[in-house]
Amino acid sequence: MKRVASGILPIIAVDRTISKALNRQIYDAYRAAIVDGRLRPGQRIPSTRVLASEIGVSRFPVLNAYAQLLAEGYLESRVGAGTVVSSSLPDQLTSSQPTGAPHVAARSGPRPVARRSPVLSRAEAMPWLLSWGAFRVGQVAFDQFPLHLWSGLIARRCRGMDAQSAHYGNLRGSQALRETIASYLKIARSVRCEAEQVMIVNGSQQALEIATRVLLNSGSQVWVEEPGYRLARDVFALNGCHPVPVSVDVEGLDVAAGIRKCRKARAAFVTPSHQFPLGVTMSASRRLQLVEWAQTSGSWIIEDDYDSEYRYESLPIASLQGLDAHSRVIYVGTFSKVLFPSLRLGYLVIPSDLVDRFHMIRRVMDLGPPTFYQDVLADFIEEGHFARHIRRMRVLYGKLRSALVDRLSRDLGSMVEVVGDEAGMHLTVMLQNGRPDVEVAERAARQNLSIWPLSPSYLGETRQGFILGFGGTTMTEIPSAVRKLRNLLATKSALLSDGTWS
Ligand SMILES: Cc1ncc(COP(=O)(O)O)c(C=O)c1O
Repeated sequence: MKRVASGILPIIAVDRTISKALNRQIYDAYRAAIVDGRLRPGQRIPSTRVLASEIGVSRFPVLNAYAQLLAEGYLESRVGAGTVVSSSLPDQLTSSQPTGAPHVAARSGPRPVARRSPVLSRAEAMPWLLSWGAFRVGQVAFDQFPLHLWSGLIARRCRGMDAQSAHYGNLRGSQALRETIASYLKIARSVRCEAEQVMIVNGSQQALEIATRVLLNSGSQVWVEEPGYRLARDVFALNGCHPVPVSVDVEGLDVAAGIRKCRKARAAFVTPSHQFPLGVTMSASRRLQLVEWAQTSGSWIIEDDYDSEYRYESLPIASLQGLDAHSRVIYVGTFSKVLFPSLRLGYLVIPSDLVDRFHMIRRVMDLGPPTFYQDVLADFIEEGHFARHIRRMRVLYGKLRSALVDRLSRDLGSMVEVVGDEAGMHLTVMLQNGRPDVEVAERAARQNLSIWPLSPSYLGETRQGFILGFGGTTMTEIPSAVRKLRNLLATKSALLSDGTWS
């Protein structure tokens, strides 16, 4: 049985102007709430005194209605728990869907929705996003997170809450957190910024949404990496912009190809430190070309620096933003990889002259980020735990990545080519035989293997492969997970005579 909140008053409107007796009105309202599932079995209902006072009647009709509901078995009395909705109600009596869920009447007339929603893909169509198996992309090694310490900081902040901290926070995020982020970015990522330019957001996904609303119009063309990060493309499409795929090679986004294709694009979305999904690092010359293009064509660059803290064979690469003397780069970062994704905290670094614009849009969107975890996070960073955690995780992820690369080459050999393993928490394997990656990923999800197919990352001509996350996969899981992948790829029955896969 689902856990249900207790003592919450259902909407019971009594109307004294109608002839129906008050006790009957209360009885009918409760019965309806139980039958259509708004009140669930086991849920406690308010005492007669509380209900009478809430709906402004004497206790008598309430007592009367409760007695009737008890007698008919809708309610039961439990010692020490008061009156609850009967736990023995037959399933057919209570709807499994709460009211408000889509009980669409057959003839309810046209139900128009905005034209833009069909441009988006449904998560249900991508079972690899829903499965909780090895190689889940974006999963961190949460068992290594200093939870005890984190809980201590939460408790301390909670005890210190007052009327001011419970009120609306700063629209662009807490001053303390913005200052710590600004100094971290200056040192660790060579970002040129002051705290005034930092805006705390609900993950980098929100950063993209805000930046799009501020900088782009419906119909604007935006360079996106090909292959690239699908959720970024979706933000642009949702806002009526046209993503223009620009190929990625060993040096990152091919700027010359972008210029040939669409010189006048209004913006470029790039992941230069660790291209998603191929994992290449954008070369210095490409970075300079990109910045130069943005300056001459009056375009913007959105730099998504989502996992650059973890580099294994060299020092972290400086940000693109730090190279740009013309303030054309909007820098986006996230705590989803360095801490954990459910925190939903990320940040934007905004060119100084655009700060007000970003604030105006943000105000309308959500009045700013929730304040509590910002304060906890600011403490976590200031007290040195953040830097220590990154150092520890870099070592751990480095070992996981080496173990995975070794296993892949030992067990899959020439079936795949491993790319993009120098940084981050995922790598990509390119399939050498044109096997349909989506079909394999769907089957893998059913076998508790959470691999992302590569082909949906392309807008145009696709290549087949898989994105494998190793952050949340343990050393002991890797061998069996790679074996499982090999078995999936080796299912020869699906190979057709022309070399393609059924
Ligand atoms: C390219 C890229 N950017 C950003 C993110 C993180 O997004 P968020 O900060 O909204 O969790 C991810 C997560 O997988 C990603 O792959």
